[in-house]
Amino acid sequence: MTRDISVENLTKDEAQAELARLADLLANANTAYHTEDAPEMDDATYDALKRRNVAIEARFPALKRADSPSDQVGAVPADGFSKVTHAVAMLSLSNAFDAEDVEEFDGRVRKYLGLPADRTLAYTAEPKIDGLSLSLRYENGELVQAATRGDGAVGENVTANARTIADVPTVIADAPDVLEVRGEVYMSHADFAALNARQIDSGGKPFANPRNAAAGSLRQLDAEITRARPLRFFAYAWGALSAPLAETQKGAIDRLADLGFSTNPLTALCHSSAEMLAHYARIEEQRATLGYDIDGVVYKVDDLALQDRLGFRSTTPRWAIAHKFPAELAWTRLEGIDIQVGRTGALSPVARLQPVTVGGVVVSNATLHNEDYIKGLDSKGNEIRGGKEIMVGDWVQVYRAGDVIPKVADVDLSKRADDAMPFAFPTRCPECQSEAVREPGDAVRRCTGGLICPAQAVEKLKHFVSRAAFDIEGLGAKQVEQFYADGWIAEPGDIFTLQDRYGSGMQQLKNREGWGDKSAQNLFDAIEEKRAIPLARVIFALGIRHVGEAASNLIALHYGTWDAFEAAMQAAAAQKGEAWEDLIGVDGVGTVMAGSLVNTFAQEAERASIDRLVAHLTIAEAKRAGTSGSPVAGKTVVFTGTLEKMTRAEAKARAERLGAKVSGSVSAKTDLLVAGPGAGSKAKKAAELGIETLDEDGWLTLISGA
Ligand code: IVH
Repeated sequence: MTRDISVENLTKDEAQAELARLADLLANANTAYHTEDAPEMDDATYDALKRRNVAIEARFPALKRADSPSDQVGAVPADGFSKVTHAVAMLSLSNAFDAEDVEEFDGRVRKYLGLPADRTLAYTAEPKIDGLSLSLRYENGELVQAATRGDGAVGENVTANARTIADVPTVIADAPDVLEVRGEVYMSHADFAALNARQIDSGGKPFANPRNAAAGSLRQLDAEITRARPLRFFAYAWGALSAPLAETQKGAIDRLADLGFSTNPLTALCHSSAEMLAHYARIEEQRATLGYDIDGVVYKVDDLALQDRLGFRSTTPRWAIAHKFPAELAWTRLEGIDIQVGRTGALSPVARLQPVTVGGVVVSNATLHNEDYIKGLDSKGNEIRGGKEIMVGDWVQVYRAGDVIPKVADVDLSKRADDAMPFAFPTRCPECQSEAVREPGDAVRRCTGGLICPAQAVEKLKHFVSRAAFDIEGLGAKQVEQFYADGWIAEPGDIFTLQDRYGSGMQQLKNREGWGDKSAQNLFDAIEEKRAIPLARVIFALGIRHVGEAASNLIALHYGTWDAFEAAMQAAAAQKGEAWEDLIGVDGVGTVMAGSLVNTFAQEAERASIDRLVAHLTIAEAKRAGTSGSPVAGKTVVFTGTLEKMTRAEAKARAERLGAKVSGSVSAKTDLLVAGPGAGSKAKKAAELGIETLDEDGWLTLISGA
């Protein structure tokens, strides 16, 4: 029995045996908790075992098991919801803002599928409900789990709460054995008003809008509170399924309605972008009288086989789009302009406004983008707003669309006061006094202070702990600011030595104001838990300019491991040669992003800071999900010439789905060339290098069945 040996005293063999025992115990406890709804272990014991597992893995990274419990987020934190890894990711939608965007969407879908303009293509059109999404898992007709979207990959387990929602059936008949129903939890206007009246009566704080009220009500640790809140649910999509629901989107929604789910009555089948736009206009007309908030119309390709072919980009489906209602507008006075310094040194002007309600939300700050924007110019020097400059004291129009940061859109010159002041944009960083410069072609003025600029350092740290990056529970923007101000952390790597420095001794975290024994230990544990982290999160967390979440995922999949990624960034430093070509060949990486990446690794101070961070981490290899059995997983494939059975975009996406890397150029690293008619220099080079070459039919045969 190794249970009582402290982690520091374990031998390697004992550690291995103990990791196996913990994996087994925790897996059984998870099954009991999540699927049998009969917890057999109390939360504290579960947490302690999980922490022990993490501690052993941190001491013996090489022993980490493929089925490590630390990768299976199913923990039951003492003071929060347990986590649920979605069997099928919960994605978001890309947006359209006008008729042209909708027509372009239809055009893109057709182009991808290679459909001629005269071939009718059906789409569903339905309201976009302004609530929060929920995934309901039914097994053999019984509701076994309900989870929020979370970050799309991992959500929160809100099963007990979802059971209290009248629109959520707990038992359904004649359903597939496994059925995940997805939809939106929302609150009606009438219920929202009544709830807020009750909140105020009982001395509580009212909710800002029905969506916040719905989210706050669903995420109650005590399900009895949720029961007392009038939540509703519309079903509009699905996740994992053991058998298809129908052949079309509309058919599937009808099937969900037959199974007992509420589906939106304004769902229509359209046969052209003109019909979609007409249905949009109908829904917009009824918006004010629906009795619940909607913020647009969602269009989805109706044929599910075509949806399947279209597939997904990194975070959104190609087969759907949200056509948003126009933004809300209001006029107010511009009282001042503050300059904020971002993590990449950008100086951003922020409007300080006389508070004004825009579409139900009080706005007192709004972005002014950059110095040219204030002057009435776009990034190319063309006039915007008729070239009108915005001055402090002006009467300005504020624009707010959905969750987007409000912006100042216009200025009313007829109301300009005599004492209105033009804004002098600073040429020094207001935080560190370093020179702030504009590179040719950059609309943004940037602080040149780099790592010495406290604003950049703090923003980098905030980005590092943010949700899509390290997501450390208990370490948010506020804590980062305080720790930075007191010199406790100066760069990301310092987070991982916090416990060594402030867990014991003279100065301790638990003695800080607002902290105690438990919260300090929770933070140390949360940090410990993130030492083992996926590659994509690390790349994103570095906060490199132009490198967003989607690109980080693609880059991680391309290089697989941290070592390969880091070596490639150094090899590509000269911005030419094979490593550079390989980098810019990664889908979604252009020369600007690639330049930003390699420059970061070429700067000594930045590089040293990254090295100090990485020394604390166990970075998990990035692998494409579900590609086992794929004949092309991990291979580098190049397409050239004309493809006749599918478009280049579809071929590429399909190859990537099967785990292949698709590159634009042939090199010694290429494993396979797919050459259609008209293939030229690439086919020649492949032949010279002795690379296997297939025609389109050969390729389709190779991947058929995968
Ligand atoms: S379909 C794969 N349909 O909008 C995409 N989403 O901006 C599945 N939403 O996260 C989503 N009403 O929470 C879909 N009728 C509707 C919707 C809808 C609201 C939400 C959903 C999603 C977000 C994306």
